[in-house]
Amino acid sequence: MDNTDAKNWDNNHFMHPWEGMNEIGKNNRAFIEASNGVYVTNDAGEKLIDGPAGMWCVQVGYGRHEIADAMADQARKLAYFSPFNNTSSITTLFAREVAKRAPGDLNHVFFTTGGSTAVDTAIRFVHFRNNLMGRPNKKKIISRQKAYHGSTYLAAAVSGKERDRLWLDKPDELAVFLPDVNPLLRKNGQTVTDFLNEKIADLENVIVAIGADNIAAFIAEPILASGGVIVPPEGYHKRCFEICQKYDVLYISDEVVTAFGRLGHWFASKEVFGIQPDIIICAKGLTSGYSPMGAAIFSERLMDDVTGPKGRGATFSNGYTYSGHPVSAAAGLASMQIIERENILDHVRSVTPLFQERLRGLSSLPLVVDARGMGLMGCVQCSYERDKNSSLENDYELGALIDAECQKNGLVLRPIINMCVMSPPLVISDGQINQMFDILGRAIKTVATSRAL
Ligand SMILES: Cc1ncc(COP(=O)(O)O)c(C=O)c1O
Repeated sequence: MDNTDAKNWDNNHFMHPWEGMNEIGKNNRAFIEASNGVYVTNDAGEKLIDGPAGMWCVQVGYGRHEIADAMADQARKLAYFSPFNNTSSITTLFAREVAKRAPGDLNHVFFTTGGSTAVDTAIRFVHFRNNLMGRPNKKKIISRQKAYHGSTYLAAAVSGKERDRLWLDKPDELAVFLPDVNPLLRKNGQTVTDFLNEKIADLENVIVAIGADNIAAFIAEPILASGGVIVPPEGYHKRCFEICQKYDVLYISDEVVTAFGRLGHWFASKEVFGIQPDIIICAKGLTSGYSPMGAAIFSERLMDDVTGPKGRGATFSNGYTYSGHPVSAAAGLASMQIIERENILDHVRSVTPLFQERLRGLSSLPLVVDARGMGLMGCVQCSYERDKNSSLENDYELGALIDAECQKNGLVLRPIINMCVMSPPLVISDGQINQMFDILGRAIKTVATSRAL
């Protein structure tokens, strides 16, 4: 297939995630064909810094032969075998290494095919446990506006991004959504402390109104990633966790984005936010994106409630053909070894101040309403009116316009409506961080100027 054929076929027949129906046939997606370190190369041979690390996932960077070799060796030895009645030592070893790094008594690892299926697994387990415990009504899940937990039916049902809910069905009886926790949305004169108190009250009020007997779990990303890198006020997770404990509501921490180094630790729940969740979900960085895999990690305490005589001979009828795929496990182990050997967690902690300083330095530029983030996660929110409440219709294209300008100059971003999101490979250097923000700053100014002309 020559290049034009490939573009035509891609435009008309390859259904991409979040495909805009009006755009089918008209898109002109860049073909990304090669990669190395923090760079990807497009079909025109241009080298670009990968701002979003693929999709928040290529932790150790591209072109790691060590991971490719581990995957190839494993594929030659045993590409696949059913995980239902048998097992393989590579996957068991990987489960043990994941559990070793998870906080506290989170030591039961259920491998899935990605983040969405890990979220499904967690919710199905929570329901299963309550069924076994004779609490059939304790099933509702509390989530939050702007949360993204995945694209399977169940994971989508607990996701709170309004636009994603417009045209697709979802079981509305399952989830309750708390208001946005973005401190940018504080009312005039409201302090961050007052805002925090309000958000904590939102959670407690919902539990009291619906009744703790009807609520199974609270699910939360430590930082709402695809919702626009929303960092809740300091102390938010700890206080939510305390409320959950008070009412016997389980805490599911969705660390699909934050685990495996993005905030400078294997997992962020305990080390960064001081909580010991009942379940942690991870994916993406689990294999540095070299092969699909996710995991739901359950605490010993939860497992105690469903095993032995308490298990009543029940089966947790949930799983996937590719649960614990040996080639993905090999990729995950190799990635973990690289993170350890190259002290990548320390590296993230040492480059974070520069990343965050350069990010916040964009705040004074035209168009920029907010520049926020944590660790190696950042988001620049823009609006033509520089109004945090501006109508998104006016600003719909802004993220894409800034991304297109950046791509001309060597940086690819993740545009989300009026926001530009960045979460580069964790191995990014100080020099590359500076280069990234220099390009982004210039692109914002160019887009602002072209509108003014
Ligand atoms: C926080 C969070 N949870 C779950 C998911 C779903 O993961 P996947 O796309 O691997 O199914 C994502 C994906 O971006 C995510 O960001």
